Amino acid sequence: MDYRTILEDIYKSVKSYSNVGKVADYIPELAKVNPDKFGICLNTIEGGVYEVGDYAERFSIQSISKVFALAMALSVKGETLWSRVGKEPSGTAFNSLVQLEVEHGIPRNPFINAGAMVVVDILLTSFENPAERFIGFLRALSGSENVVYNEQVARSERETAYLNAAIANLLKYHRNIECDVEEVLRLYFLTCSVEMNCRELAKAFLALADHAEPFRYAGIELTRSQIKRLNAIMQTCGFYDEAGEFSYLVGLPGKSGVGGGIAAICPMRYSVAVWSPRLNSKGNSVMGMKALEQLTTMTDESIF
Ligand code: DON
Repeated sequence: MDYRTILEDIYKSVKSYSNVGKVADYIPELAKVNPDKFGICLNTIEGGVYEVGDYAERFSIQSISKVFALAMALSVKGETLWSRVGKEPSGTAFNSLVQLEVEHGIPRNPFINAGAMVVVDILLTSFENPAERFIGFLRALSGSENVVYNEQVARSERETAYLNAAIANLLKYHRNIECDVEEVLRLYFLTCSVEMNCRELAKAFLALADHAEPFRYAGIELTRSQIKRLNAIMQTCGFYDEAGEFSYLVGLPGKSGVGGGIAAICPMRYSVAVWSPRLNSKGNSVMGMKALEQLTTMTDESIF
């Protein structure tokens, strides 16, 4: 497969969408990002690396971090995790409060904000230095020591986090958070603030694409079966109220973030990370989704 030419063709073609969508501005620090960036990197399981555009520029991975947090929580809790968080698509926005109240504090899945906060609570009670373990895990997965938290982004989000604070308090009210609410919010925002580039993100997701073997990175171990299940949750829940649309258009398990990143995998073939900051009304990257739709159309490689 000539991935290089395919990525170059995609790069040219997605430019026609370069003015569509809006950068996330509810986190003041994110509003400062140049909206006109576009980068993509694809890694094959045979070791090929193909990159185009702003692939080396770091951006805020935001909700893509929820995949890594879930991997860590699954590695320590296994199936017992699912007594505290569901694994059904929510059909609602990532920060919706409504369902959480109706369903008595059990979040629909680990990728909506409420579910990720429960996962973060598990990390806090399971690891001695959870913030260090988390960043160490990402560095090991991506093979890059340059993956860092952006404390300024984390602080900026905390200062305006009226909705997320309400979600955390509702979880606490329903006794689905053990730690202090403030402690959970602090680690949740820190994990969201991680900065990676497309190259690092694609490399990190390669571990999920290549699940011929169980994995162990920085002391975090997942069985083949757990990797399969994590990918299944990305397929059904990775794009919130646009999970069906992403599945229909792209056909890969993936995860988006409001920093404009999307990471996805084609099992036993490749991982791909794309970044473009302008978002659609569901909080997903406009050009990122277009690029991945074209990738699976042009390669005829998807899980379907
Ligand atoms: O909690 C938030 O709102 C952000 N830190 C993360 C949201 C996000 O990335 C949703 N993804 N599309």
